[in-house]
Amino acid sequence: MSDSDARRERIRVVIDGEALDVGEGVTIAAALAVCGASTSGTRASATGELRSALCGMGICHECRVTVDGRAHVLACQTLCRDGQIIQTARRR
Ligand code: FES
Repeated sequence: MSDSDARRERIRVVIDGEALDVGEGVTIAAALAVCGASTSGTRASATGELRSALCGMGICHECRVTVDGRAHVLACQTLCRDGQIIQTARRR
């Protein structure tokens, strides 16, 4: 952890039912990487294949998650907010 990370205010999000504390200004994609969700599938394809973030810049749409009940949110383009409920394809 760098000094700038330590100075950031900590916020809490819930990913697939598990609480995770992250620094303010962190993207949902980064939070998913911290808890391992980014490698185990953020969404499922039409055929049920698990897909994960690829480009990290809003192009591929493979990072789509459900945030506070809103589907198809791009995790790489959305900052975490305190109290956010994030759902991936892992537990659907
Ligand atoms: S990782 Fe490609 S759009 Fe988010």
